[in-house]
Amino acid sequence: MKVKNICCIGAGYVGGPTMSVIAQKCPEINVTVVDLNEKRIAAWNDKDVENIPIYEPGLSAVVEDARGRNLFFSTDVDEAIDQADMIFISVNTPTKTYGIGKGMAADLKWIELCARQIARVATSDKIVVEKSTLPVRTAQALKNILDNTGNGVNFQILSNPEFLAEGTAVDDLLKPDRVLIGGDLDTEKGKDAMQALVDVYAHWVPQTNILTTNVWSSELSKLTANAFLAQRVSSINAMSELCEVTGADVNEVAKAVGMDSRIGPKFLKASVGFGGSCFQKDILNLVYIAKSFGLNEVADYWEQVILMNDHQKRRFAANIVKTLYNTVSGKKIAMLGWAFKKDTNDTREAASIYVADYLLNEQAEIVVYDPKVTEEQIYGDLDYLGSRPDEENRKLVKVVNTAKEACSEAHAIALMTEWDEFLEIDWQAVYENMLKPAFLFDGRKLLDKHKMKDLGFKFYAIGN
Ligand code: NAD
Ligand code: UDX
Repeated sequence: MKVKNICCIGAGYVGGPTMSVIAQKCPEINVTVVDLNEKRIAAWNDKDVENIPIYEPGLSAVVEDARGRNLFFSTDVDEAIDQADMIFISVNTPTKTYGIGKGMAADLKWIELCARQIARVATSDKIVVEKSTLPVRTAQALKNILDNTGNGVNFQILSNPEFLAEGTAVDDLLKPDRVLIGGDLDTEKGKDAMQALVDVYAHWVPQTNILTTNVWSSELSKLTANAFLAQRVSSINAMSELCEVTGADVNEVAKAVGMDSRIGPKFLKASVGFGGSCFQKDILNLVYIAKSFGLNEVADYWEQVILMNDHQKRRFAANIVKTLYNTVSGKKIAMLGWAFKKDTNDTREAASIYVADYLLNEQAEIVVYDPKVTEEQIYGDLDYLGSRPDEENRKLVKVVNTAKEACSEAHAIALMTEWDEFLEIDWQAVYENMLKPAFLFDGRKLLDKHKMKDLGFKFYAIGN
């Protein structure tokens, strides 16, 4: 079968960019992205394409190309489901904050709501594609709901996890290392559904990069990939602490280790800790799944990746306090960067939130500058932790529009995100406008240690 109409439920960091690229590359397929969030949909439809709700290099050009032609954003979920022959579910699956599995399991509430809505609305056969990251065997639950509450139509469930990273989403979508499609390989209908999705991607992805598996392998591969990637970051971060006490330099160690072709050079950058909406959530979910099967050693092994990451964030903040003569009370600390990595406006689980919270508990005054994150978002992130009254966050934290302003009269700078523009800062001028001694803590190993020391900074970098 040839897919003519696609609906994607969820216009977020995955649904938005993924569907924009599919629409651009498949002009004969109509793609409608729907969401309950009216503000988000209005932003996707904003006349000025620079105002789309997600900042990703290259994304606005893709949206401009396809929007209104065969790419549509809407809040009418029922209509889009009804018209579609293929429905992607790309809604959020955050860590549960209540009940059984609180703090570990993935909350599948929104997934189930989508399944029930699809079942209620659909009056013709549909291929339902899991795009969200889901616990292994979720497809079974989806199938049960669809088959038991639907109108007697046929539903084929596929798993098609998304591997894009934020900040490089468009490039990752245009040139994916692989596209993974899991489905029912034992029936003709299952195989046809898989082929229909393969044909969509084959518009621009070489066949050799499209991998088909059974549905459980596909679901589990996504959690596994994120666990492996996060494990590499925690491994190099563990070494960064050892470097700091032995005089080794973590960048040199990473380079030497990464040149071993069996290890490879990527994902060995020591940092103040990984953030983002995926790594922590997906590993916690993996730990929960392992525990629920009684695999306690497996669970403990992966949990350590998270414990190491928490330690890395905490020790970065603790080092600031210790270095500033054991007190930051009433001192101004400039935080450069708030996003969890460069080239995104996403702040979910960003290390900056936890470092700021730690310093605020020590009564510091914080001034934040991030080129893409709004003031509203920064306060929202701090308020969400619930560590102090919201008004207090607004009193102790200021958000400004330039790095220069943030650093003026500061006791210390904490560099939290590796934005390219921080390399271009006039560090000499920044130094002159700070209180002395001027402390600079580089949480990304972005800056040149010798240059910063020559300018007069008391300079500390992760892993050095
Ligand atoms: P997101 O929060 O940015 O977007 C999800 C959207 O779904 C929200 O706008 C929400 O309003 C909408 N939504 C929720 N329930 C709905 C419903 N019943 N009907 C209509 N809309 C609904 O999330 P995201 O970052 O795009 O992640 C989505 C999924 O993709 C998650 O499972 C995540 O783990 C996975 N994933 C994310 C990334 C990433 O880099 N962000 C990468 C790979 C996979
Ligand atoms: C990740 C996965 O890479 C992607 O495949 C998946 O689809 C979603 O989760 P993302 O979280 O968007 O993507 O960004 P990623 O580049 O993986 O970075 C995650 C965090 O790890 C960031 O905070 C980043 O700064 C940090 N990181 C990454 C390091 O500290 N060191 C590294 O070497 C790499």
